[in-house]
Amino acid sequence: MNTASGSDFIVVANRLPVDLVVAEDGSQTWKRSPGGLVTALEPMLNGRDGAWVGWPGVPDAEPEPLVQDGVLLHPVRLSETEVTEYYEGFSNATLWPLYHDVVAPPVFHRHWWHTYVRVNKRFAETVASIAAPNATVWVQDYQLQLVPAELRRLRPDLRIGFFLHIPFPPTELFMQLPWRTQIVQGLLGADLVGFHTPGGVRNFRWLAARLAGSRLTGGGGRRPGEINYDGRTVKVGAFPISIDSANLDRLARTPAVRARANKIRGDLGNPKRIVLGVDRLDYTKGINLRLQAFHELLMDGRIDSSDTVMVQLATPSRERVEHYQQMRDDIELTVGRINGEFARVGHPAVHYLHQALPREELAAFFVAADVMLVTPLRDGMNLVAKEYVACKFDLSGALVLSEFAGAAIELNVAYLVNPHDLDGLKNILYEALTVLPEEGRRRMRALRRQVLTHDVDRWARSFLDTLGLPDQR
Ligand code: ADP
Ligand code: G6P
Repeated sequence: MNTASGSDFIVVANRLPVDLVVAEDGSQTWKRSPGGLVTALEPMLNGRDGAWVGWPGVPDAEPEPLVQDGVLLHPVRLSETEVTEYYEGFSNATLWPLYHDVVAPPVFHRHWWHTYVRVNKRFAETVASIAAPNATVWVQDYQLQLVPAELRRLRPDLRIGFFLHIPFPPTELFMQLPWRTQIVQGLLGADLVGFHTPGGVRNFRWLAARLAGSRLTGGGGRRPGEINYDGRTVKVGAFPISIDSANLDRLARTPAVRARANKIRGDLGNPKRIVLGVDRLDYTKGINLRLQAFHELLMDGRIDSSDTVMVQLATPSRERVEHYQQMRDDIELTVGRINGEFARVGHPAVHYLHQALPREELAAFFVAADVMLVTPLRDGMNLVAKEYVACKFDLSGALVLSEFAGAAIELNVAYLVNPHDLDGLKNILYEALTVLPEEGRRRMRALRRQVLTHDVDRWARSFLDTLGLPDQR
């Protein structure tokens, strides 16, 4: 509840679920924020009274707190320098690549770290100022790993959970971080630390013992384990995140979305097969590898651009960070090259949209797609894979899924692939394109059973139950 004495349930994430958009005339509107964190947490908060503390997505903005769909949105201000050093720098050029298997080299700068510490303190202070006595606070993701300990120092009465939405890296990689001990101690400020996979749990438990001198007791794997640290018990567990599956299934079945899917197929020239990729434009997603596989299949003559087209939808992301700029150039060069060789007038072989699309439009693309290519080099979960499955209510379609996405643990009847193995990727894409209908339906039926029964509500319930928050809905 949000009352005069504060909020009883607070989500704190780097971003609010909506970004502030300031027009040239100074007028302000809000638009949905990008990425999987918001996709998962939005439905979780629906119907729960609570507050969401986060950055409104633009530098130097300090809009008044507002209530949206019953949730109090409480903005935290970041200066231009803090956006550069805390968000683009330490969060997205140090931690992001380090936690994703160093697929790009992480950059270590002391001044970025100092800004990360300062901003994490500000988030903790903001939460401390609006939390009701004994409230529950759920801290989200790698941008805010120091918040749990700082918040406990300011408000020992609070119940604090932390969930990491990205992979927690192998210990050898984490040990590169000059501030490794401070990060582990920051996380140990929580009562419960959650990861997507048992592997993340194992890595964290080892590091907590090695770097913070904690003692391990029981658990591990899928069962939450316990760590004794600083005279307290910290629970640690694996909680694979999911989507609002039933809602998406319902949306996909609506006449409007089905009609739009047919129109998309028509606009693409009624090809026999549509191959789809949907991602935030991020170098972890393996977009160029899948384009390369598609290109080589065309060159080898195993597929024909007159009846097989590829669509790549890419949300603009972190556009001022150097690795993202380089990757965008590489991808656009590859798309241009494939179309240069294989397009006909009015019929590109690859359709590439560097745009964020509305949910309904995205659902229509999922409904239309015969093969979904999800090929990250490393991904915490990957919600797109689950969204595709939730939209395939007629059991059509095939999901090609990287072994290095967290989702591969649950969706193990997908066409699993090692995206580094280009020949393997080509073969599995070809297999998915030519699967017999009965075999395709068998796999999709199993995938849907998993996704529809393990939805985001179950994820949130399981985390909050373990944290000890009674269900108030
Ligand atoms: P990440 O969290 O790394 O961005 P996920 O796959 O877990 O990756 O989540 C991405 C979310 O962003 C999904 O909900 C997906 O539907 C959404 N998304 C991805 N691309 C687009 C796009 N072009 N337009 C709108 N939404 C998109
Ligand atoms: C991933 C991260 C989120 C992040 C999102 C979008 O889902 O786990 O924490 O919010 O990407 O990235 P951005 O940098 O635009 O917030």
